[in-house]
Amino acid sequence: MNPDTAYHIVHDFAMLDGNARLNLATFGTTWMDDYANRLYSESYDKNAIDKDEYPETAKIEMKCWKMLADLWNCEDPEHTIGCSAVGSSEACMLGALALKRKWAEKRKAEGKPADRPNLVISAAEQVVWLKFANYFDVEIRRVPISLDHKCLDGYKLEDYVDENTIGVVAILGVTYTGMYEPVKMISEKLDEIQNKTGLDIKIHVDAATGGFVTPFLYPELEWDFRVPRVVSINASGHKYGMVYQSVAWTVWRDATQLPESLVFHVSYLGGDMPTFTLNFSKPGAQILLQYYNFLRLGFNGYKDILVALREVAQHLADEIGKMPEFELWNNPTDSPVFAWMLKKRCPA
Ligand SMILES: Cc1ncc(COP(=O)(O)O)c(C=O)c1O
Repeated sequence: MNPDTAYHIVHDFAMLDGNARLNLATFGTTWMDDYANRLYSESYDKNAIDKDEYPETAKIEMKCWKMLADLWNCEDPEHTIGCSAVGSSEACMLGALALKRKWAEKRKAEGKPADRPNLVISAAEQVVWLKFANYFDVEIRRVPISLDHKCLDGYKLEDYVDENTIGVVAILGVTYTGMYEPVKMISEKLDEIQNKTGLDIKIHVDAATGGFVTPFLYPELEWDFRVPRVVSINASGHKYGMVYQSVAWTVWRDATQLPESLVFHVSYLGGDMPTFTLNFSKPGAQILLQYYNFLRLGFNGYKDILVALREVAQHLADEIGKMPEFELWNNPTDSPVFAWMLKKRCPA
């Protein structure tokens, strides 16, 4: 087939898709400026995993996660560890795998069985957590939400954790409502549990959306490495990081939280390459775009955009809240996201 014929066939099918700019159904970034687009077209052929071939991209990747470690109040961003991922799904799984391995190593050192790990999370989790539990043989313990406890807040947490708990996941930005789970409260509840039972249970924060929101809108909110039980955090660059799909980040509190036994040293393209990823190949362009945004927008640029988004969300929430048939589930006070529900069921 001639390339122009093949092009037109694919082009015409793709034309039938929705318009990405009008897609408000996901948190994914659908617009970047012309300079970003230029960088993208200059670098879409780079594979981020070929770090010896693309050392500048590798350096920029490291700069990005160190900047995030700093943004998330890591004590020593220079000496911690982090990585990029293709999305928050991979980034969440990397955090959870480190928790699982840490737990198993501790159990084995104590001569105890490590064959029945469980992970505790709100029942309003994103599907990645069910996938993680399924793919990596971890029991998932889902804490129900209710009108009184609209997200995981530590209520009855003691009924869900035990010696086989590899960690608790706090979600910063519940996918369906945008609500932030109160990480500090969850941590305080875990302190109480530790005082009573001796169990020292750590927290991973799934900040897929909130990781790029809270530091700018609510810097005083302690949800990150300021909370001592938080050992790792993930966030999506392709959501409020404002980069096209596919890039996300995981950062650990310090290098000891990522067990060395999970790191693969691959001899590749003439160098020793330590990697902790599920995927091997992945786009380098998005890493460069993330750094572009960090330079272009800076702290104040991200903040200005998020303040504007919050205003839009608050306006919509006010208007929807006035409608007699609806009531708000939450106000967009945490993030520029809110949910609403029918006041009462319609008559049959
Ligand atoms: C809280 C949360 N975690 C994880 C994910 C998965 O992220 P990704 O689509 O980047 O894999 C999402 C996506 O919406 C999310 O909202």
